[in-house]
Amino acid sequence: MGKDFQEAFDKTREAGTIASGALDEITKIIKPGINTKKIDTICYEFINDNGAYSAPLYYRGYPKSCCISANHIVCHGIPGDKVLNDGDIINVDVTAYKNNWHGDTSRMFFVGEVSIKAKNLVQTTYQAMMESIKILNKDIFLGDIGSTIQNYVEKRGFSIVRDFCGHGIGKKFHEDPNVLHYGKKGTGAKLEPGMIFTIEPMVNEGNYETKVLNDGWTAVTKDKKLSAQFEHTVGIKNDGYEVFTLSNKGLDFPPYSS
Ligand code: MF3
Ligand code: CO
Ligand code: CO
Repeated sequence: MGKDFQEAFDKTREAGTIASGALDEITKIIKPGINTKKIDTICYEFINDNGAYSAPLYYRGYPKSCCISANHIVCHGIPGDKVLNDGDIINVDVTAYKNNWHGDTSRMFFVGEVSIKAKNLVQTTYQAMMESIKILNKDIFLGDIGSTIQNYVEKRGFSIVRDFCGHGIGKKFHEDPNVLHYGKKGTGAKLEPGMIFTIEPMVNEGNYETKVLNDGWTAVTKDKKLSAQFEHTVGIKNDGYEVFTLSNKGLDFPPYSS
């Protein structure tokens, strides 16, 4: 790894580990009957206790520390009084900001017992993200990431959301490039050592179309069918890649206990 991006990688790893630690922390409390505000508070406190800031809080007027997106919510659900029900699937998305660098990650959680279809959607979404991470190196193109995800998802009868994408991340929360989760191999910019960005595919059970509710944030599927998402922050090395937001506790995807 070049000296020039050693510091960027070290600081992103530190922020990323705090973000993934926040997700580890909430795993045990996600049960039927709790409200999403409670999850938000735990994320906020964990991030603060680790000397970091929660990047979503007040970002472009966003009111909370994390996004919690249940069932047909695609992304940017706002934590509040909503109570989790048995059978819900939820995404929790957290971003820690520490020493001027960001780490951004999200996972799905099962609330009680969920349907086989929901489990299949969640597993497909996770695996689509991981398939695209496995191919990362300095010689591939952004389009290779998108096409890998899109092919994986569509082969299994689901659809990939177009309206939101991954993003460069670093000293800024969102920066170039846009990392599309669909596309064609060999298209788009070539990856370069030192690049840091997120991969965060949203996968729908039905059609890929979304709309944003009147709160200005909550994005939902137009057909009201389920949607799932995972997110990692990754970096391109001279040789291969690094994932900065892995769980230290092996809690990367559900079910988290057996
Ligand atoms: N964490 C989200 C992402 O993956 C962004 C959330 S912005 C917010 O890019 F304002 F909604 F929090
Ligand atoms: Co992101
Ligand atoms: Co995120």
